[in-house]
Order: sequence, then C-alpha cells, then structure tokens
Amino acid sequence: MVIVKTVKELESALAAAHNGHESIGLVPTMGALHEGHASLVRRSVSENAVTVVSVFVNPTQFNDKNDLTNYPRTPEADCAFLESLGADIVFAPTVEEVYPEPDTRTFSYPPTDAVMEGARRPGHFNGVCQIVSKLFYWVAPTRAYFGEKDFQQIAVVRAMVDDLKIPVEICPCPIVREANGLALSSRNALLTPTERETAASIHKVLSESLTFAKEHTIQETHDRVVNALNAIPELEVEYYEIVDGHSLRAIADWSDAPYVVGCITVYCGARPVRLIDNITYKA
Ligand code: PAF
Repeated sequence: MVIVKTVKELESALAAAHNGHESIGLVPTMGALHEGHASLVRRSVSENAVTVVSVFVNPTQFNDKNDLTNYPRTPEADCAFLESLGADIVFAPTVEEVYPEPDTRTFSYPPTDAVMEGARRPGHFNGVCQIVSKLFYWVAPTRAYFGEKDFQQIAVVRAMVDDLKIPVEICPCPIVREANGLALSSRNALLTPTERETAASIHKVLSESLTFAKEHTIQETHDRVVNALNAIPELEVEYYEIVDGHSLRAIADWSDAPYVVGCITVYCGARPVRLIDNITYKA
C-alpha cells in the first residue's frame, strides 16, 4: 500500500493501472474509519484491480465550523486499517493541495440536493460535489463506493455524475450496524457509551415502523416515529421525511412511488451529536 499526499504522486501511483486499462475502485472517506468503511473497501478490493481510498476531511462541505473542528481525525490508525483491508493507494492530501484557490464552482440538483440535509445544511452538498468531482477527475475510477447511511449523498452524487457525464459506476453499499442496531458513523466516536445505547433506539423505532406502516398512512407513520424518539430523553428528531427513494420528493401516500425511503436526523446527548439513518418501506 502506498500513501500519497499530492495529486502528482497520485497520478504516478495510478499510471500503470490507467495505461493498462485496469479497473480502479475509489472509496472516498473523511477518515476516522470504521467497519462501515471497511465494507466499502473490501467490496472495492474484490471488484477492482486497484483500490484507492481518499482520506480527507473536506472543509467545504461543513456549514458549521465547530462540526469541522470536532470531526474525529485518526490518520495513523486509518492507514494501518486500510493496509489490513488490502487497499492499494491511500490519497491523504492537505487542504492546500485540494483547494490551492477557493473553489467557486456551484452545483445544483434540485430537488435531490435541496430537501432534507440540503435544506438544513446550506452548502453541504455543494461542498460534497466539489470534492467528489475533483476526486473523480484525479482518480478516474471505474467504480466509486458510497455507504447507504448517507442516502441523500448518493442521490446527489448520481445527479452530478449524470449531469457531467462522468464515466464512473456508483456503487451503493448497505449500512453496517453495531450489534444494538446503531448505524456505524465516524461521529459515533463522539458519543458516550450510554448515548450509544440510547442512539440504538433510532434503528429500533424505524424498524418497528415497518409493521406499523402496513396499516397506517404516511403521516401516521411519520408521527409515530417522531413521537416515539422524542419521548426518549437525550434524543431529539430534527426531521423525519418519507420520500420517493429516487427523486427524494416527500410523498403523501404509499402508492405515490414504487421506491419509498424514510430518512431521519436525530440529535443525541449533551454535546449533542447529529446522527442520520434511514429505512426502506418499499423497494
Ligand atoms: O461521506 C463522506 O464521508 C463524505 O461526504 C465524502 C463522500 C468522503 C466527501 O467528502
């Protein structure tokens, strides 16, 4: 495994694969790696000749300065983990390398990037598109792997890839959970052990709503989830939206879309930590 910090070094490390038309898998990450990332890397390693993992806490996608400052950073552990998973290249650039000049490009893919996270975190998806488009340009991957925990992010990246006609296959990977059901996230490192247990209720309540939904309306299902979670001390729902899984438009009736997903954001604990999760009602 090689660790490269500049785009030039990255290009050299990939030259043989590009010249030999070998398949390249890209796993974009912000580090603080966990088993969720490991599942993406393992899949990329099994499907491609070469796997590149980028480790970069992208400042342009943080609309909250504290969130950027507090974001966990564990570079040494990340590299050791990636080596054990069989990654070939780690691209860990500095902010100056990625953004020698402020990135003034704007990306806009409504409704996909305008609803839910897009409405609450202005500029977030613009920043995601800025970094992901640069990574796609520098790595020119055959496939790129994203975790389904960030359900909306995948939809936005797909919209960007379609818009810019980038020749890459987007590969969504299932959410990996702790034994208690909590979706793995780098932010879980910011939770106390008790908060981790409390946060497990998010998945429990969402899972229970699958049965409830069979005999209730979207509004009733929405209210049931929100009320059940808000009744738990230390949890506060920011939003729960039941949407068309393709367009991400909110729907009013279960028959409004063939693919229906519930997306949630919950604040947990004293800090508080912002956690996201989702559940598929209809696929
Ligand atoms: O999902 C993430 O960790 C980030 O949004 C990504 C895709 C690595 C871009 O910074």
